[in-house]
Amino acid sequence: MPSKTSSRGGPVAKRRFLAPFAGETLAVPPIWLMRQAGRYLPEYRATREKAGGFLNLCYTPELAAEVTLQPIRRYGFDAAILFSDILVVPDALGQRLTFAAGEGPQLEPVRTLADLGRLDPGKTGDKFGRVFETVARLRQDLPDETALIGFCGAPWTVATYMVQGEGSTDQAEARLWAYRDPEGFARLIDLLVDTSIGYLDGQVKAGADCLQIFDTWAGTLPDSEFDRWVVEPTRRIVSTIKERHPTVPVIGFPRGAGASSLWYVSETGVDGIGCDTAMPPYMMGEAFDGENVVVQGNLDPLLLVVGGAAMDERVDEILELMDGKRFIFNLGHGIVPQTPPEHVARLVERVRGG
Ligand code: CP3
Repeated sequence: MPSKTSSRGGPVAKRRFLAPFAGETLAVPPIWLMRQAGRYLPEYRATREKAGGFLNLCYTPELAAEVTLQPIRRYGFDAAILFSDILVVPDALGQRLTFAAGEGPQLEPVRTLADLGRLDPGKTGDKFGRVFETVARLRQDLPDETALIGFCGAPWTVATYMVQGEGSTDQAEARLWAYRDPEGFARLIDLLVDTSIGYLDGQVKAGADCLQIFDTWAGTLPDSEFDRWVVEPTRRIVSTIKERHPTVPVIGFPRGAGASSLWYVSETGVDGIGCDTAMPPYMMGEAFDGENVVVQGNLDPLLLVVGGAAMDERVDEILELMDGKRFIFNLGHGIVPQTPPEHVARLVERVRGG
């Protein structure tokens, strides 16, 4: 069983977001929201305009720090998440990446070992360095009580974009490569494991006090492939980060993994499990009890668009379900652009007992 920690001194006491990881259950759970910085906020749209594009925004420390702080100023979330993107990793490795306004990412697909050979881990220093500078600025500018979450995409999810060249509904190209040539595909995954470790390690050294690994497409793989391409690479990242930074909690978000999330938790060694919108209440409320893990989730982002009684009722259900547990309130996926900012204010108020 996790031990109770003192409520005096140290970062845990200063940052209530970290308390559940130290074994404490709070009467009011910490709250932050995936994609809490983004297009639903007018001040984000203004800063993005000033940056002249999404990637410029990610790589300009002053502006990336500014958009990270915007939702903290408005809502006082318990944690800020570094403003960046999971596709910064392939971009830094040298894969051509563009974000056209109003469209998803476009990458020059990596589908062969020759394509893979053109990526260069030696090149990542400049772009990663700018992200680390953003983290360092943030740790200075954030209120003391606000935790700072660093992140990366999980190798499987990042690989799906790298191989497909864009977002897709079925991640077909990555799955086909993984089935046809598992040894070749493993080289891409290994490159992403190593690069992601360096990327997360740099974020912690610059001041991140928690990490989240986003595996948005974890739910599209059958059993043994889930193990090989989702669980195993994540386990390698988590264990190396833990060797270097034993006190920094790592949250995994294997979206769509359902019942396999239990296996994911026990095998990867994550300290927190992000639950998506479809995670059933018996799983969230009970299934993880035997694991030493903090549960995070899982309001439907579309209920945040709707707001009103429908949202309030669901928020209350989640709070009741997770009462007395080591729990962090979040959405089941990211905030969508059409979300009214006042609904986010109401959500925070409701979670905090208003
Ligand atoms: O506030 C935060 O959560 C921090 C910043 C953050 C962004 N992306 C900013 C962003 C984080 C943590 C991410 C993670 C991310 N990026 C994921 C995993 C989580 C998820 O949502 O499933 C994925 C799959 C990506 C890749 C990505 N980035 C896509 C597919 C897109 C286009 C779709 C979209 O939502 O626009 C992006 C762009 C992106 N990343 C935006 C933001 C704020 C919108 C860009 C814009 O301003 O036009």
